[in-house]
Formats: sequence, C-alpha cells, structure tokens
Amino acid sequence: MLLTDELKQAAAEKALELVQDGMLVGLGTGSTARYFTEGVGRLVAGGMKVRAVPSSRATAELAAELGIPIVTELIGMIDLAVDGADEVDPALNLIKGRGGAMVREKLVAAASRRFVVVVDESKLVRQLGAGVLPVEVLPFLWRSTAERLAELGLSLVVRGGEETPFITDNGNLILDVTVEGGIKNPASLGVELKKITGVVEHGLFVGMTDTVIVAGPDGPKAIGRSSSS
Ligand code: A5P
Repeated sequence: MLLTDELKQAAAEKALELVQDGMLVGLGTGSTARYFTEGVGRLVAGGMKVRAVPSSRATAELAAELGIPIVTELIGMIDLAVDGADEVDPALNLIKGRGGAMVREKLVAAASRRFVVVVDESKLVRQLGAGVLPVEVLPFLWRSTAERLAELGLSLVVRGGEETPFITDNGNLILDVTVEGGIKNPASLGVELKKITGVVEHGLFVGMTDTVIVAGPDGPKAIGRSSSS
C-alpha cells in the first residue's frame, strides 16, 4: 500500500473508535471515507447495531455490499458523520467535492450532531484555495451561471470538459473554480456563491467541522472541538 493510503486508513480507523452501538452514522465519499465505511461494515458484521446515511451512490453501493443497513428518509439527526476533505485550513474550514459528491456530503454533515473529518496530513493548508473549488450548477443555462461566477473574478472549467461533462449524482454539472491568490474569506465567498441563481451548492464547508483526525508518520491526531472523545 502507498504511504498516503496507509495514512488515510489510519485516520479512518481512529474515527471508527467513535462509533457506538445504536448510532445512525453518516458515511462520506472518497478514498479516505471508504476506509471508514469498510470499518463500519466490519463492526456490523461483528454484531454492532449501526445504521447509515450514505453521501453518494458509490458509498450507498459499498454500504449495501457490506451489509450496512441504509437510511434514506432521515427524521431527526445523524449521530456522527465521518468524511474526507480536499483541503483543511487552521480554522477547520474545508474544501470538498473533488470527488463530485459535496452536495449530499454537505447535507449529511449539516444533519449530524458531530461531523468528523479524516485526512492525511497532505490535506492541511494555511489558506483554502490551493487547488480548485468545486461548484455544482444546474445544467440548464449553465453558461449564464458561469458568467455570474466570472463576474466575481473567478476562473473556471467544466469538470470533464464541455463535450463529455462529469454528471453528479444529482444530475448536475461541476464547475471547478480557481481563486487567484487563494480564498481569503471562505465564509463571504460561500455567501456570494449561494446568491447566484443556478448554483446548487459549493465545496466550501465553513464552521461545520467538529473534529479533524489527521494522520501523519507519527500516527493519527484529533484536533478541534470534542477532540478528546
Ligand atoms: C468527495 O466529493 C470529496 O469531498 C472527498 O471527500 C474528498 O475529495 C476527499 O477525497 P479523498 O479522501 O479521496 O482524498
């Protein structure tokens, strides 16, 4: 296994310690979250009573294969959601969505009592925006939506290219946005993006994270709120 994969797995395994009998658990998407889902599958196989809300079709398929009971109609709150991230800043704000699942991921995180992010140390950044910020938009009149984004001074590309665009689980397009000089104020950029008609959601997760479990060569370490349990 590559070193990065070992770190991702170490972070996910640490998060598994938070899962308790009877919990409703949110399952993230991506290569790090996959290790967590596989771990939940082992817990269920071992007799633990856990149900899950998957944040993508891919994760739902994996959870079903592993025999994890799936909840699709949520009433009340998810106890614990665990997901990966593309970038994590010192305030624990995130960029997510380079796997294309950030709309459902954000819904799951927002519906959770505790949102735990699992990453290898390469995801830690001083300022968000080192890489692209994914923005999910409706396909209908998407060029108008893109023009509004460009008016904010953002440059963008259609994920997958205009000929063969990537289509999300929700049937939408993703515009991968580059913010020149990085994202100085993630909260205000998030508000500006949400004002644009045609934008379904963006990959900025501001003020949502309770705990980040970051794995480096010295092992996984929890930072943030509720990091001691
Ligand atoms: C999926 O849409 C993303 O938000 C992922 O959670 C994020 O890209 C992290 O993925 P990896 O764990 O594969 O790096």
